[in-house]
Amino acid sequence: MDDTEEYFDRWSKGIGKEESESDRGFPLFLRWGIDEIISRIRLIDGSVVLDLGTGGGTLIFQMVKVNKKCKFIGIDISKGQLDNARKGCRKEGIDSRFIQGPMDDIPMESESVDIVVSSAAVHHVEDKRKLFSEIHRVLRKGGMLAFADYFEVAGKRFREQVDDCRRRHPESAKAFSRSIQDTEDQIPDDLKGTHPREYHVDPYELAGIIRDSGFRKVEVVKSFDAFFAVLSAEK
Ligand SMILES: C[S@@+](CC[C@H](N)C(=O)[O-])C[C@H]1O[C@@H](n2cnc3c(N)ncnc32)[C@H](O)[C@@H]1O
Repeated sequence: MDDTEEYFDRWSKGIGKEESESDRGFPLFLRWGIDEIISRIRLIDGSVVLDLGTGGGTLIFQMVKVNKKCKFIGIDISKGQLDNARKGCRKEGIDSRFIQGPMDDIPMESESVDIVVSSAAVHHVEDKRKLFSEIHRVLRKGGMLAFADYFEVAGKRFREQVDDCRRRHPESAKAFSRSIQDTEDQIPDDLKGTHPREYHVDPYELAGIIRDSGFRKVEVVKSFDAFFAVLSAEK
């Protein structure tokens, strides 16, 4: 078991267990990100929707509010997180299945997925090129990708976007920072300081990698602050 898997397995036994069953502790930045993802995708009856780094199934529980008649698949390296997601989905009668494994090596047929989504998980993967070529492989032609994640402000373009967002929406920026801080504060003592290594990139750099992987209409849709943005693309 690697560090990331172990960390989230421990997470799943505590705070993660509560999250899968309700929206309690749902951080504001995640709320914004998830709403944006959902507004970008077309959840039509029968769509096969793959959630990468699904955790306790956070995104799945929000997507079913829009359309329950989809087939939801969650992939995650943590068995504990998947147990929580499975339990919640069973309780809600959601058509779902879960795969334990790394999101950059998806054990699914090529062109078998209509929509790929993810929230707060892509930064755990080091090899972004491998990840996005794998996502491109499993998506059907015309399939959609939308995800929200933490990023690094490395380039001028993202910095300007973030500064502009803060200037125009100072209250939102403050609320965003508070929400990040609240989330940090919620980390149980036994997990503090043990967070696994993360691989943050600038969203515009990542958009380039996504384009190189064969996607079109690649967009940095929205950035709420220095650390969180939503990207979308189409195959
Ligand atoms: C911060 S949690 C986010 C969970 C959920 N998507 C949400 O929004 O609440 C990140 C999740 O990614 C999973 N994860 C980390 N690295 C992964 C990898 N390489 N492949 C698959 N899942 C991974 C972790 O186990 C964890 O459940």
